[in-house]
Amino acid sequence: MAGGRARVAVSILDADHSNMAHAVRRAEREGADRFHVDIMDGHFVPNLTFGPKMIAGIRPRTELPLDAHLMISNPLQFVDEFLGAGCDSITFHVEVDPAQIEPTLLAIRNAGRAAGLAVKPNTPLTALEPYRELLDIVLVMTVEPGFGGQSFMKDVAAEKLLAARDYLSHKPVGAEVHVDGGVNRETAEFVGGLGVDILVVGSVLWIKGRDMGREIRLVRALADEGYQYRLNDGKPPIPRDAMVTFAQLPKHLAWRFMAEIERGGIPVIPLRGNGRYNPDGVRDYDLLVPASTEPLVRERHDTARAGYERDADAWRQAFVAEHGVIPPPSHP
Ligand code: DX5
Ligand code: ZN
Repeated sequence: MAGGRARVAVSILDADHSNMAHAVRRAEREGADRFHVDIMDGHFVPNLTFGPKMIAGIRPRTELPLDAHLMISNPLQFVDEFLGAGCDSITFHVEVDPAQIEPTLLAIRNAGRAAGLAVKPNTPLTALEPYRELLDIVLVMTVEPGFGGQSFMKDVAAEKLLAARDYLSHKPVGAEVHVDGGVNRETAEFVGGLGVDILVVGSVLWIKGRDMGREIRLVRALADEGYQYRLNDGKPPIPRDAMVTFAQLPKHLAWRFMAEIERGGIPVIPLRGNGRYNPDGVRDYDLLVPASTEPLVRERHDTARAGYERDADAWRQAFVAEHGVIPPPSHP
């Protein structure tokens, strides 16, 4: 996986539809982070593409995640078929019949996939308000949905991209803002500077003779550059999968603290660290949290950490008083 922060979802809308398997294999080889699959019904948008069978067909051709972007009027009617086809996430439009929205989001979530809502350029983000808690993805359209190759609506991006994050504040890890439409090397730095997580890139990648890999790398690098200088005080962004040590504790306390942190929706990895040996002959465990959540974890758990450290000292003293010190295992 690429370092840095921004990720590119390659839209196959403008690929050669007579040979999608080849298109997908090629984009994966060229460094795509995932695929964005545009489903159109000729009703919600004035264009037609393909259905769940296409997704099921390309599923075994790539290891990368598949994001479905449904531009259809009846998402509830088809959601099970798209889930069955192997999509990792499904995003549909908030402009559809309101009665379908919650049940469709729930169907996606109950299947263990990421659920998203998309907003057309003229739809305000506040339309998402009732569904806040059910969202993993907010997709901001920066062109009118329906066709690749249109020009980027900068004002829409400026108004919505940073604000979209607010609708995902219940989800400290894994939430994503996607930007879709007119994203390329001219616009990537701008959207990166608005904190977008996933850049959907379509038509520019499929131009004949274009070096697709270079284009993907450029878009990612420019988006990270935008993020670094506009949002991150000039500091390079933390790679998406980086983890940092938040606490070091003897095993029994580490396990209790881990459960406490995870109850707040933040995943923790416990590792046998290389820190101090305890009197029972076992080293402290390191508790690692995603680097992106570190400020939140500090805010929530700093006081508890100090308490656990005191408990650890008390336990060490009690252990020594009762059993003496068990030497650490010797390594040849
Ligand atoms: C348009 C689709 C987009 C499209 C983007 O309705 O939702 O995903 O593929 O294409 P470009 O990058 O050409 O704007
Ligand atoms: Zn799309």
